[in-house]
Amino acid sequence: MKISVSDKRYDKMIYNRCGDSGLKLPVISLGLWHNFGGVDPFQTAREVIHFAFNSGITHFDLANNYGPPPGSAEKNFGRILKKDLKQYRDEMIISTKAGYYMWPGPYGDWGSRKYLLSSLDQSLKRMKLDYVDIFYSHRPDPETPMEETMMALDHAVRSGKALYVGISNYSAEQTLRATEILDSLGTPCIIHQPKYSMFERWVEDGLLDVLQEKGIGCIPFSPLAQGLLTNKYLKGIPDGSRASKEHGFLKKEQITDDKLKKISQLNHLAEKRGQSLAQMALSWLLRDNRITSVLIGASSVTQLKDNLKLLDNIKFSGIELTRIEEILNS
Ligand SMILES: NC(=O)c1ccc[n+]([C@@H]2O[C@H](COP(=O)([O-])OP(=O)(O)OC[C@H]3O[C@@H](n4cnc5c(N)ncnc54)[C@H](OP(=O)(O)O)[C@@H]3O)[C@@H](O)[C@H]2O)c1
Repeated sequence: MKISVSDKRYDKMIYNRCGDSGLKLPVISLGLWHNFGGVDPFQTAREVIHFAFNSGITHFDLANNYGPPPGSAEKNFGRILKKDLKQYRDEMIISTKAGYYMWPGPYGDWGSRKYLLSSLDQSLKRMKLDYVDIFYSHRPDPETPMEETMMALDHAVRSGKALYVGISNYSAEQTLRATEILDSLGTPCIIHQPKYSMFERWVEDGLLDVLQEKGIGCIPFSPLAQGLLTNKYLKGIPDGSRASKEHGFLKKEQITDDKLKKISQLNHLAEKRGQSLAQMALSWLLRDNRITSVLIGASSVTQLKDNLKLLDNIKFSGIELTRIEEILNS
């Protein structure tokens, strides 16, 4: 199949500056945690990536362990790049991470220099790239000195294997420390990737303030709570959905009656705004100018199309915001 790249790809997308850095990111970024692994249909993955790129989504987020099997999302992404998008590398922001279990023994997990730098080399090989745009420490390591983890990120930039660095899943306090260390090394932390959605709001308790104060961008992951903040689970668990898959990280037990009641009320409010619930959940995050981009997943082009329409209605009235709080706190 021949896939063409559209001349209109930059017409509609909005790009936000990532913290105080020189890098701009699209307000919607695409993550390859689910749906792009060895167990998933390659052709669908390819179509979703093409549709994203043709819609101005320049940022693709990966990690060493995405699959399953671990590493296969990077391999598939590398195949798609080589096949179809190689000449557009300079129009793309590709990120990867290391921090979770990847290979056996003491050097395949957490935050040592040994693990991070070997993992980055492996990621580059799998994606057939010379460098990534952003390299992240995927989670803080309670045992490795933070200086060591940050020095490994700094080294990744100095060796030309990454252009920028970021951190993910670090608390407000850990972020402050990581930032101080990185600043002293001369490689600023430009982005933080935390879990944040209407259903998961820990970042509002200090982290967002730290990011603003330090000029660090914020890219919330799982902004749709893995699909809960859409209308898909309102009538049960559909076949092929993340909650129906054995390897999916969304477990049936997470879809409680209490959640479903809230989802149904939110869905009603979204309809009144003339939006899908997915669009409203994403716009709700983007209304805060500390949020650089929302990092979504998608298992089809149809979902991506739906989510991209959020660009038509990002504003909320005070009444709508109050109603959302009432629903979430009920
Ligand atoms: N840093 C970290 O620790 C970390 C952790 C997790 C994720 N992430 C990153 O964040 C990215 C996104 O995470 P996520 O996939 O959990 O994000 P999400 O956007 O909350 O969930 C994506 C899922 O929601 C469903 N969906 C999306 N749009 C929809 C629509 N319009 N209508 C109905 N259903 C829709 C799809 O589920 P179905 O598959 O059921 O169709 C899709 O796979 C990951 O790919 C990864 O890059 C980072």
